[in-house]
Amino acid sequence: MTDDVLVVHGGTPLEGRIRVRGAKNLVSKAMVAALLGDTPSRLFDVPRIRDVEVVRGLLGLHGVKVSDGDEEGELVFDPSNVESASTDQINVHAGSSRIPILFCGPLLHRLGHAFIPDLGGCHIGPRPIDFHLQALREFGATVDKTPEGLHLSAPNGLHGTKFALPYPSVGATEQVLLTAVMAEGVTELRNAAVEPEIIDLICVLQKMGAIIKVHTDRVIEIQGVKKLHGYTHRPIPDRIEAASWAAAALATRGHVEVLGAQQADMMTFLNIFRSVGGEYEVTDLRPPRGGSPGQEGGIRFWHPGGELNAVALETDVHPGFMTDWQQPLVVALTQARGLSIVHETVYEQRLGYTEALNTMGANIQVYRDCLGGTPCRFGRRNFKHSAVIAGPSKLHAADLVIPDLRAGFSHLIAALAAEGTSRVYGVDLINRGYEDFEAKLADLGAHVERP
Ligand code: EPU
Repeated sequence: MTDDVLVVHGGTPLEGRIRVRGAKNLVSKAMVAALLGDTPSRLFDVPRIRDVEVVRGLLGLHGVKVSDGDEEGELVFDPSNVESASTDQINVHAGSSRIPILFCGPLLHRLGHAFIPDLGGCHIGPRPIDFHLQALREFGATVDKTPEGLHLSAPNGLHGTKFALPYPSVGATEQVLLTAVMAEGVTELRNAAVEPEIIDLICVLQKMGAIIKVHTDRVIEIQGVKKLHGYTHRPIPDRIEAASWAAAALATRGHVEVLGAQQADMMTFLNIFRSVGGEYEVTDLRPPRGGSPGQEGGIRFWHPGGELNAVALETDVHPGFMTDWQQPLVVALTQARGLSIVHETVYEQRLGYTEALNTMGANIQVYRDCLGGTPCRFGRRNFKHSAVIAGPSKLHAADLVIPDLRAGFSHLIAALAAEGTSRVYGVDLINRGYEDFEAKLADLGAHVERP
């Protein structure tokens, strides 16, 4: 643990400019989609983060040749020799990411069988995969759960189906998309997730030759095709990372321009950011999604001075306020005057990190009740999933242990905002989702060091 610690001398506003690349939660899925093609795919703007390494490793084990392209951040995937991998080889990646579950459909199509290791990912609740397995069974897959992982096969092939998700799960929607595109016949998915990362995955699959219609009311219809080819794609930028740096600017009374950030996918965040009292300016004057290189802009976020305002917010599926924006923003809310209310409706246990903020001087109470009107599955199940933040509180330095990716970034922001020297343990977890975060902190003038 001791070599995985960052010493943070807080109290200095973050000032400067950083860049975000392709969204972690799209890039990893687009990489899996490359398995479905019969010719090479090219993906640009791929960040150097742990999830990308895990998927790259798993693709390699299954015979997909992954190489660096000419452009910095470009990856090329050659799936012409897809082959089986041994469970021992695959198990090297056990517990390292949640993305392996999305290999089910593509491997079933390419090999007729699949082995999926135990999943990892952040500890933010039980994170079941029941929707995924139910959907795969609907397509005709057999799923055998063993202590070492999941064994799947499709003795009679995969067939289109009508399926309604109990909740618009991002992962389960991706599972259905990646399976339905080459299943025989038509699939109709109801109550689908429609996050921008899902729409971008649909763009990738459409480029490969898939036929996918997104109807109103969360209905997605997929006409299976026999063959898909490779794609060339520049992903949407990482709107979670962009919001995290915005929250860091606000909490430290700083000024950060996030190059690459796009307004369209961050509207809900921008509304809340402005309500809290933060200022922003969209500097990206290119047409949405694309435009010519050399004109790169983004969004400039800053604290205008004076006091911040308390707000009430509820996390929700798109187009609601993302659950992943919640933890970084709460640090800024500790600096707002009055009572802020946060109702987390996506994950049942995503407020545990507030205890650490309280040890730093914040005043945050968590409740089992639903403190908001958004329909929520957790109130009646007795989970502490609402928070009341009383501010402003002067934060002081502390020793912190990072519990998961987004909470980890919020701990880091709190340490940067607090007076004094904090030690943040477990910071390597932040590399799972934030490319070069230490270099970016240095670019923003943060006083951090490895002991
Ligand atoms: N759920 C089930 N059963 C399932 C699947 C999901 O009950 O089979 C529940 C979950 O427990 C959760 C809710 O449905 O309460 C939503 O989960 P979802 O499936 O939408 O999440 P995910 O696909 O596992 C992705 C992102 C998360 C992000 C969520 C919500 C990736 C790799 N992860 O997770 O990102 O919070 O969607 O937008 O895309 C992160 O980046 O740090 C992160 C956790």
